[in-house]
Amino acid sequence: MTDDWNDYADGWDDNSDVRRYANHAFASLDDHLNLRGKDWRSKRVLDFGCGTGLLAEKIAPHVAEVFAVDTSENMIDVLQNKQLHNVRAVHGDMLAGDVPELGNEFSEFDLICASSVCAFLPDYSGAVAVLAGLLNKGGHFVQWDWQASDDDGFGLTLNQMKAALEAARLGSIRVEQVFEINSDARTMPVLMGAGIRNPE
Ligand SMILES: C[S@@+](CC[C@H](N)C(=O)[O-])C[C@H]1O[C@@H](n2cnc3c(N)ncnc32)[C@H](O)[C@@H]1O
Repeated sequence: MTDDWNDYADGWDDNSDVRRYANHAFASLDDHLNLRGKDWRSKRVLDFGCGTGLLAEKIAPHVAEVFAVDTSENMIDVLQNKQLHNVRAVHGDMLAGDVPELGNEFSEFDLICASSVCAFLPDYSGAVAVLAGLLNKGGHFVQWDWQASDDDGFGLTLNQMKAALEAARLGSIRVEQVFEINSDARTMPVLMGAGIRNPE
């Protein structure tokens, strides 16, 4: 994978593995939070590293608004062209505080999702801490990443994920393998990590 995600924007939605990943991520999110229940209809969600919005477009019908943010301009262009009425697709780097379009709405999300993003970040733990700080008290953080079998493989190990969620002072932490993607005769497990910002 190149560092430039812009190169992947065209055709991202045509990749069946990518679509399968988003379908499984949404199913595990719904299992975890009952997202299709009425409690979520008034909630604000951030899809961090949203890409072309494959997860955001599944979440959007069940919540008030999805803020979908990505550092790749081309990915955001694809999402904006979908014209989803309650999805605000914004290009920028939230970790650097650089998303002027969000203005005062920059924080206090009821749910922050990061689907196949965190393992690509140079400072995974630091990113989770920043994102956890953008949650409402009682808000949920949920991430999915390829599971690495050890510290040297690509992806995140169960222990790395658990440690990052704990370091971000999230409560009710849950880290487990929730699905696998079978591609090119390989089976690649995916971990979901979830936690709640404690009411202080
Ligand atoms: C593997 S893609 C996943 C895209 C989408 N979540 C999906 O599941 O289809 C990783 C995405 O993370 C984005 N990304 C990488 N670093 C980021 C950062 N610091 N802030 C926001 N997005 C980032 C990339 O631009 C890319 O769109």
